[in-house]
Amino acid sequence: MTMELSLENAAAGRAHRTGTTDRALREWVAEIAGLTQPDEVVWCDGSLQEADRLTKQLVNEGKLIRLNPEWRPNSYLARTDPGDVARVEDRTFICSELEEDAGPTNNWREPAGMRAELAGVFAGSMRGRTMYVVPFSMGPLGGPISQLGVEITDSPYVVLSMGVMTRMGERVFEMIEQGTPWVRTVHSVGYPLVDSKGFRRADADWPSNPEKYIVQFPDTREIWSFGSGYGGNALLAKKCFALRIASVMARDDDWLAEHMLLIKITSPEGRTYHVAAAFPSACGKTNLAMLRPTIPGWKVETVGDDIAWMRPGPDGRLYAINPEAGFFGVAPGTGETTNPTAVQTLWGNTIFTNVALRDDGDVWWEGLTDEAPDHLVDWQGNDWTPDSGRPAAHPNSRFTVGAAQCPSIADDWEAHEGVPVDAILFGGRRATNVPLVAEARSWKHGVFMGSTISSEKTAAAEGTVGELRRDPFAMLPFCGYNMADYWGHWVKMGRILGDQAPRIFQVNWFRKDADGSFLWPGFGENARVLEWIVGRIEGDAEAEDTPIGRIPAEGALNVDGLDLDEGVLDHLFEVDRDSWLAECDLTEEYYAKFGDRVPAALNAELASLRYHLKQA
Ligand code: OXD
Ligand code: MN
Repeated sequence: MTMELSLENAAAGRAHRTGTTDRALREWVAEIAGLTQPDEVVWCDGSLQEADRLTKQLVNEGKLIRLNPEWRPNSYLARTDPGDVARVEDRTFICSELEEDAGPTNNWREPAGMRAELAGVFAGSMRGRTMYVVPFSMGPLGGPISQLGVEITDSPYVVLSMGVMTRMGERVFEMIEQGTPWVRTVHSVGYPLVDSKGFRRADADWPSNPEKYIVQFPDTREIWSFGSGYGGNALLAKKCFALRIASVMARDDDWLAEHMLLIKITSPEGRTYHVAAAFPSACGKTNLAMLRPTIPGWKVETVGDDIAWMRPGPDGRLYAINPEAGFFGVAPGTGETTNPTAVQTLWGNTIFTNVALRDDGDVWWEGLTDEAPDHLVDWQGNDWTPDSGRPAAHPNSRFTVGAAQCPSIADDWEAHEGVPVDAILFGGRRATNVPLVAEARSWKHGVFMGSTISSEKTAAAEGTVGELRRDPFAMLPFCGYNMADYWGHWVKMGRILGDQAPRIFQVNWFRKDADGSFLWPGFGENARVLEWIVGRIEGDAEAEDTPIGRIPAEGALNVDGLDLDEGVLDHLFEVDRDSWLAECDLTEEYYAKFGDRVPAALNAELASLRYHLKQA
C-alpha cells in the first residue's frame, strides 16, 4: 500500500494512518484483508473531512441523495434493497462452545462449524471494494464503563453511520496501541465487484446478499456479519456488541449491559433522579426518552434512547452510561404531536434510510405530519400519492443522528463515570392485566417482573391474537447467553448492590378498555407516573400492596387536570385474581423451557405470587 497524503491532512502536516504498531490489531486486519481480498485498506480517523469525502463519494455514485440544504442541511437519504430492511433474527447466531450456554431463546451453532462456513462466505467478499478499519469507543473515551472496538467493513454507509452512532476516531487506535482491550467485529455486505476469475460487475445501488449471517462468538468476544448493510445487522457496535457481546462481558465482570433508555428527571424542587427503562422494540421508547411532562415544574432530559451499560461505582451505587453517541430511531410515528423533541433533533446532519422524498427535496414519513403531501417519491423510488394504498416510508425506516443535537439532551449524558440510577422500569405492551404502574417489593421481585415482560400479539400474522409474546427484559433477541443464566446474573447483581440497589417498577401505558381503546393518554402524561415513582424513592408517595406489587394508593397518583372517565383509574389498576392465576400458569410454562437453569429466586417469586393471589 502506498502512503497517500490527503489534501486536508497534508495541509495539517499529518499523514493518513496506514497501519498500527499494535501487533494483534495489525495481524487481524491483515488476516481479514487476506480473506476478503479488498482492493485497498483504509484506516479511518473519524474526522469531518473523512465523513465529507465518503458522503461525496456516495452521492456521486447515486447511493445517497443529498436533501435540500434549505430544509435539511447536511442530510442525506439512503434507499436500501427491499430485501434488506430490518434486523434478521432468524439469521442471528450465538456460537458459544456449549449449546446450553446459548439457551433456548437463541439460535446456536457450533463455533468451529460456523467459523468454517464464515470462512467460505467471506472469502473474496470484498473484491473490487475498499475495506475500512473503523476504530470506535462505546461510551466516553477512557471512561470506567466504556469499551473499545474496531469494525472492519466494506460499506462506506456503515462508516458514516458508525461516525454518528459511536465515538469513532484516531484516539481509539492510540488507546489500543497503549494496551486497552478491544472487541473485533467484521462486516461485509457480501457483494464483491470482482469474481474469482477477475471479471468485474457493476455495483448495486444498495449492495447486499440474500444469504445473511449475524454471528456472535461470545467466548472470544467476536462478531461477524455478512450480507446486510442495514442497522443492527451492520452497525456492529449497537445490538451485536453493546448488547449481545457486552451482556456476556457484563456477566463475567459483574455489570449490566441492557436494552434500556436512560433519562434524567428534575422535580419542581430541583432534585434530580436518573431512571433506566427497558421496553420491547416499538413500545414508544424514544417517546419516553424525550418526554415533555404535562405536569408543571417537572423536567425530563435524555441520556440515552436504546442501550444502557450499568456498573456499581466506588460508592456502591449503580452507575449508567449510554454507550452510544447517536440515535438510530424508527421514523414512522415520530411527529410534531407525538415527539416534537425528536423532530427538532432531526433539523440537519441526519442520515435518513427508507423514508419518502418530498418534491422540495425534504423527507416525509407516516406520522410526521397529520396530512400527507400530495406527491412523494416512496422509499423504493416510485411515485406516491395519498391514494396509492401503500406506505410512503418503510415501517422500519430510520433516522441516524448525533445525540448531542437533541434539544432535551441532559448535561450529564457524557459523564465519564456515568449517572447514578435511582429506578429501573420494565414495560411491555399489555392490553390486559398489567396495571399502569406497580412497584416491586424487592430486587428479586423486580427481576421476576423483568423476566415476565411481554406484549399481546395484535395481528394474526404474529400468531394467535391475544397470546403473549414474551420478551424478558426486552432482551429476547439481544441476550448473548442463556436467558435463565442472565436472570441469575440479575439476581446476583442485587446481592452486590444490596440496599443501594435502585428501586424496580413495572409500567404499562397500553392497557385497554372493553371496546379496545387505551385507558391512559400516555405521552407527556406519563410524567405523572414518573412523579409517583420519584415520590416512592423520596418516601412521600403512598402505595397500596397488591399480590402483584405496590400500586399508588387512592389519590396518590396525580391526575389533576386529566379528563379521565369515571372508573378508568380503577380499571387501570385492577388486579384480576383469575386472570393473574392464569398468567402464573403461562409463566410457569415459559420458565419450563429453561429447565433447571431458572434461578431458585424466580421460582420462589412465582410461588409467592400464586400464594398472594389465592389469599386475596
Ligand atoms: C431497535 C430495536 O432497533 O430494538 O432499537 O429493534
Ligand atoms: Mn432497541
